[in-house]
Amino acid sequence: MRRLTILITAGPTQEPIDPVRYLSNRSSGKMGYALAEAAQKRGHRVILISGPVSLSCPARVKLILVTTALDMYKEVMKHFRASDVIIKTAAVADWRPARFSGKKIKKGQKTLNLKLIPNPDILKRVGKIKGKNQLLVGFAAETDRPLFHAQQKLLQKKCDWIVLNDVSQKGIGFESDQNQVTLLSRGGQKINLPRMSKKKLAKKILEVIL
Ligand code: CTP
Repeated sequence: MRRLTILITAGPTQEPIDPVRYLSNRSSGKMGYALAEAAQKRGHRVILISGPVSLSCPARVKLILVTTALDMYKEVMKHFRASDVIIKTAAVADWRPARFSGKKIKKGQKTLNLKLIPNPDILKRVGKIKGKNQLLVGFAAETDRPLFHAQQKLLQKKCDWIVLNDVSQKGIGFESDQNQVTLLSRGGQKINLPRMSKKKLAKKILEVIL
């Protein structure tokens, strides 16, 4: 098989409120790191753009660390043109505080209103501008009507594949070492994979999409 360049995003993003607080999403980064390791072991060149996680970078993978969704967006835009495959496992924060307070916000007040503004949808933007020969894979974390919402994301974000993660099920997803997903393709394929370790799953996902 040809040696491909595979761009993977992983982990959460953090959106600072003040010097000691931030908004974030639940994500351990395990799925993205497992994909990076599996892709490298298949002989591909891997660029891993990661939000803050407590995992070590797999050997021979180029790691780019970011904090906010805007940082992640910039790095993806820098590297995606040279990538054959783009896999977006990151749990990007959909909003960020409209303003960052340089000083710690004191708790004197009874309520605190935070104004949030939207972050760019990185996957959607890549879907709009990607080339014909680039394969785009998104993840969908859903709690209700999972198939419906995942199909919507597949179409709206112009992905080739969506990996659907039903996060309402106990013991899988998020911080767990295990996951159970369904792969949906633009061409209408639906592949249910059984529950397994994220490491095994990473290999399976690559087998299917590549
Ligand atoms: N994603 C992204 N940029 C964002 C939000 C999401 O690139 N600002 C990507 C994720 O990396 C993932 C996919 O979009 O591959 C779906 O993410 P998910 O959180 O499931 O969905 P959202 O698009 O945020 O929609 P919603 O929160 O309404 O379910």
